[in-house]
Amino acid sequence: MSLLHVEQLGKEFGGVRAVADLQFSIPAAKVFSIIGPNGAGKTTLLNLLTGVYVPSTGRILFEQRDLTGRAPYEFAACGIARTFQNLQVFFNMSALENVMVGRYLRERCSLPAALFRFPSLGRAEGAARAECEELMRFVGLGAYVAASSDAMPYGALKRLEIARALATRPRLLLLDEPAAGLNPIETLEIDALISKLADSGITVVLVEHNMRLVMGVSDHILVLDYGKQLAEGTADEVRRDPKVIEAYLGAGAAGDAAPAQGAH
Ligand SMILES: Nc1ncnc2c1ncn2[C@@H]1O[C@H](COP(=O)(O)OP(=O)(O)OP(=O)(O)O)[C@@H](O)[C@H]1O
Ligand SMILES: [Mg+2]
Repeated sequence: MSLLHVEQLGKEFGGVRAVADLQFSIPAAKVFSIIGPNGAGKTTLLNLLTGVYVPSTGRILFEQRDLTGRAPYEFAACGIARTFQNLQVFFNMSALENVMVGRYLRERCSLPAALFRFPSLGRAEGAARAECEELMRFVGLGAYVAASSDAMPYGALKRLEIARALATRPRLLLLDEPAAGLNPIETLEIDALISKLADSGITVVLVEHNMRLVMGVSDHILVLDYGKQLAEGTADEVRRDPKVIEAYLGAGAAGDAAPAQGAH
């Protein structure tokens, strides 16, 4: 059963076709990775799948519902959350408050309740706080529940963004390079966290240059090159595809090499 389906999806910036004619389906509760050289259109695709960009062509269907042209908050309300390639942490807030920002999407609070501080509001806030603390522990940040975000190391901030995205209670979570800049131990922890997310029923879309991570954790891989679909399949199928090897390593390299982190 596919959770998200795109048809003829494209995005142009002036004359640049950042994404062109994509067609694929993302199955539920799996890890679906998107790889490709620098500038291949991966982040643009995530921006399309979260409503940040309106497609130039094509359609986006989430659980058969057409979300094409909808605003980012509508994508979020449907159960789609994301993290960013460059950290987007509110450093003037505590770690827990950053996570609670995500939780507010699911809060229902009337104006009178907010104005007159009804007791129900305090109870709801307590429940939200407890849920966000639990999410911090889920992503491995139990030691930072009382921390100030500007005192956290980079690797922990990457996981804080995942906790904030989870606080919106997504069914589809898009991660843009969650392991970028992490050391090998932190990368292994992200690997385990991604598997844990999929096991818990959340569908994960992973954009990542770390091929060891991608090849190990993905159920399905989509390869982009110059905005187009170059290949699609399991890790084994993609790893052996001569077109993929050529895109990463250049013409003539299609031997037994696996894709490495690469640029055009
Ligand atoms: N807002 C924009 N305006 C104009 N061009 C853009 C915009 N966003 C992306 N592009 C262009 O679209 C192409 C795809 O960029 P994108 O950031 O999606 O690539 P990427 O696969 O995420 O690369 P990387 O691996 O380096 O993060 C590039 O040529 C980029 O310059
Ligand atoms: Mg990118």
